[in-house]
Amino acid sequence: MSSNDPHHDEHADGIIEDREQRPPVYFYILFFGLIIWAVIFMAYYLFSGWSSDAEFQQKMTEHKTQVEPTAPAAAATTTAPVSIDAATLFADNCAVCHGSHGEGGIGPALNGADYIYGKDVAAIKASITAGRPNGMPNFGNQLSAAEAAALAEYLLKL
Ligand code: HEC
Repeated sequence: MSSNDPHHDEHADGIIEDREQRPPVYFYILFFGLIIWAVIFMAYYLFSGWSSDAEFQQKMTEHKTQVEPTAPAAAATTTAPVSIDAATLFADNCAVCHGSHGEGGIGPALNGADYIYGKDVAAIKASITAGRPNGMPNFGNQLSAAEAAALAEYLLKL
């Protein structure tokens, strides 16, 4: 390349631009490669059937089955009352106030003959499921009817 090459401007800042030279091979590979990749990517996106809404709906249904198993679980306890262990239910829910053997504590003793509201299955079930005014919490939401009945039978035997 001589100094009278019309593409060279030697009067500028000394940086010489040579517009005759072709870009290097790797540039073509990257440039056209990316275009081909973009076309394939868009075609895949358009024709694969994927949609963000469908994916969201699918994840929501999965999530709901994980978060709301309570309804089938409650149904299972009422259809299978055989599995109810009243002693364990009492220890887990009642012993903290009524004592581990029903001897009383925060709540009245449940192992004697004198019950404020009556010592029979119906009265005890009512105490459990609806609560009593002087500090007996209502277990209607935590315990099924079958569990309340099992607890009543258990208390009558104490
Ligand atoms: C937070 C403390 C507490 C817990 C937990 C608790 N109770 Fe009570 N319970 C009481 C109190 C206090 C009373 C007395 C309420 C009143 O006199 O109005 C009571 C009353 C009762 C009565 C009526 C007693 C009577 O003399 O007529 C029964 C039956 C009873 N509870 C059963 C249970 C069972 C079964 C559980 C477990 C599912 C339970 N309680 C859990 C505090 C509790």
